[in-house]
Amino acid sequence: MSFYVTTPIYYVNAAPHLGHAYTTIAADVMARHHRQRQEEVFFLTGTDEHGEPVADAAHALGIEPQELADRNAERFKALAPQITASNDFFIRTTDPQHEAIVQEVLARVRDNGFVYEGTYEGWYCPRCADFKAENDIDEGNRCPIHHIELTREQEENYFFRLSSFQERLERLYAEREDFVAPRTRYNEALSFIRSGLRDVPLTRHKLAWGVRVPWDHEHVFYVWFDALLNYYTALSYANASEDLTERFWPASYHLIGKDILRFHAVYWPALLMAAELELPEHIFVHGYLLMQGEKMSKSLGNVLDPFAVIERFGADALRFYLLREVPFGQDGSVSTASFELRYETELANELGNLASRTIAMLVRYRDGVVPVSEVDPQLATDFAGLPARIAALVDRAELTTALEEIWQRVRRLNRYVEEQAPWRLAKADGRAEDLDRVLSTLAEGLRAVTVLLWPYLPTSAERLLGALGAPDISLAGAELGAGSVGRVSAIDSLFPKDEQAASA
Ligand code: MSP
Repeated sequence: MSFYVTTPIYYVNAAPHLGHAYTTIAADVMARHHRQRQEEVFFLTGTDEHGEPVADAAHALGIEPQELADRNAERFKALAPQITASNDFFIRTTDPQHEAIVQEVLARVRDNGFVYEGTYEGWYCPRCADFKAENDIDEGNRCPIHHIELTREQEENYFFRLSSFQERLERLYAEREDFVAPRTRYNEALSFIRSGLRDVPLTRHKLAWGVRVPWDHEHVFYVWFDALLNYYTALSYANASEDLTERFWPASYHLIGKDILRFHAVYWPALLMAAELELPEHIFVHGYLLMQGEKMSKSLGNVLDPFAVIERFGADALRFYLLREVPFGQDGSVSTASFELRYETELANELGNLASRTIAMLVRYRDGVVPVSEVDPQLATDFAGLPARIAALVDRAELTTALEEIWQRVRRLNRYVEEQAPWRLAKADGRAEDLDRVLSTLAEGLRAVTVLLWPYLPTSAERLLGALGAPDISLAGAELGAGSVGRVSAIDSLFPKDEQAASA
């Protein structure tokens, strides 16, 4: 089995922000989960460096586009390890290998009869790098996304015959209802297709910053075609000793934000059909993180800055918060105040306390050695089949629901501690066996949920599994009773309360 997941490649006209971190974190959770299933995984992210948005931003700074691209690509590259993203490669669309394959694939699209010369006349948004249809324009000829005035462009272009894929795309959507998810996005893409596809410019004449069109050096490819192809080109050169295309193409999942739906759900499959390449299995569209109506938080100020959060609370806390607070696939508000609330109530009080109590009781009552005993049947029922259920949810990119399922078990284990009151058993005569059973059930339950949490909280999960002496993170081992904890060792608090904030 192989699993290939991608993020959009990020524009280098600006610095990385929370929205970029969001998609990369989600893709990382999926990649890690599939590695837990012992699958071969390839996880790609990178930067989109050509086109007008980048050229314009560079000119505004009085530098060459390449210089801006080099500068900002470094910042995006640095973001990945900061959020503990385990990407296998970082593609830059100025990589010469990428450019060469873009030229090759698009020349094939032309040889196959899907390219012709024409004149484009219409509205264009330089910030979107997108040509706007008449029905997609706000009052006063403004961009509906950026609200800036659109430019009227007239340009000799090569066109891509998108219109000739009308029927094939309709058939694709009819045959593969899971091609785009969530359903609202599937419907949105399908209704765009049904409204009638028009041909789109494949090249730009007036712009020099892009991949040269091999059959006409006065043109560069329109940035979106160059960019979309990254998902395909990366596989051929990511690994110097092996072309990975055979192993990983087509992609299992493209994760994208809702603003770039049309390019991925309509242009991209059409382009792949024109180039005779296989289509991706799934496109999953997440919503926006909304940051309005901010309430001041005690320690983070009022902007949820990913770097400030990571510095203060660690990457795990940010990863957890984003996927827990905003149902993956929908829009949702994030704020520093709700971040701190979840950190304290869920990470510190629920998971953190469960871990520290369990370890402390094992140390106090059994010298750190987990007694050999059956797992308590009441808990066994509550955990039965959990890894398979999580796998089914992650297969549909339902990352928030999967996390909720796991979290229910964290809460269940805390309830179990309260119900069984091991401190009472420890004092009572003739209850040693019961205490053995409770402590061993707790240790095993904690181990199992921690394995399931690993994709979301990799650093804390590894620390905790280390303290439990049970480093195996395979999903098969997440079944209650499938593993064993031998000797536990004490660790510092996993999610320390923010002292400074508390005293502020
Ligand atoms: N370069 C193109 C993508 C090309 S993919 C072949 C692009 N880049 S981007 O940097 O502008 O945006 C990349 C992704 O970040 C988009 O999917 C976008 O939705 C996401 N986010 C940017 N801001 C966001 C939020 N506030 N919330 C969630 N994600 C958003 O588009």
